[in-house]
Amino acid sequence: MSVVPSAGNGKITVPSILERKSGVSPKSSSPAKITCLTAYDYPTARLLDEAGVDVLLVGDSLAMVVLGYESTLPVTMEEMLQCTRAVRRGTRHSLLVADMPYGSYHDEPAQAVRNAVRFVKEAGAEAVKIEGGERRMELISRVVEAEVPVMGHIGLTPQSVNAFGGYRVQGKTPSAAEQLLRDARSVEAAGAFAIVLEGIPRELAAEITRTVRIPTIGIGAGPDCDGQILVLHDMIGLTFQTPPKFARRYANVGDIIASAVKEYCADVQSGSFPSDAESYHAAGGVKGRKTIPIAR
Ligand code: KIV
Repeated sequence: MSVVPSAGNGKITVPSILERKSGVSPKSSSPAKITCLTAYDYPTARLLDEAGVDVLLVGDSLAMVVLGYESTLPVTMEEMLQCTRAVRRGTRHSLLVADMPYGSYHDEPAQAVRNAVRFVKEAGAEAVKIEGGERRMELISRVVEAEVPVMGHIGLTPQSVNAFGGYRVQGKTPSAAEQLLRDARSVEAAGAFAIVLEGIPRELAAEITRTVRIPTIGIGAGPDCDGQILVLHDMIGLTFQTPPKFARRYANVGDIIASAVKEYCADVQSGSFPSDAESYHAAGGVKGRKTIPIAR
């Protein structure tokens, strides 16, 4: 298993993320916003890390965008660990956070601690993400006590899709907004170093961002958070559904792959691939000869 690169040389760490909270950094009152993206494999991890993304999240969204499940619920610890190891091998500079999948922390805090520690020991994660607010306080503090930094996640938490009755924007009524404020304060009090705010009104996200002293990372939560996260496959056009309205599309990689593959198939069928230059040649000046004499 590869180990976590040591801090220094611009390596992003949990303390350096905490310093990026707007208004609290001793260095600057408006530090650069925190950039986060999901990554699930070695090549994308390398590309994102080398492009300077601050945080790579091995999100349980991989269940849907990479494994083809209909929700995030079926993905297992083993699947998450395998992807986290691949991302670890491609990551040097970014902070690597692994998502605790559904069922890996819902039984008792000791189970959450065991599984969080597995992400660190067996896959090289530097932190884990846990969905849920006030009711996860004890669990988050137990994981933090076990020296595993925790990123919280509140609002439209996809693992609650059945309880919510669908993927719906949360916190739209005054009482729901109050609950989300309590959730954010609880996650902070439990010792989390950052909170993802997903699918909530921008005004509420701005209020939570002003209220807590840890950075907020928004997804579908407007521009006033301390950072932003997107699912990589949504932003590069590598999904098969209409992306949510907050997922700005920066590229159409799906179209690029489809047209490259069609061109390859046409070249194979026409005989133009492989060319002579793309072929190996036998030694001894037999280039162009179709058969090679075989010594008996
Ligand atoms: O699983 C995931 O990708 C996530 C982010 C979108 C926050 O939880």
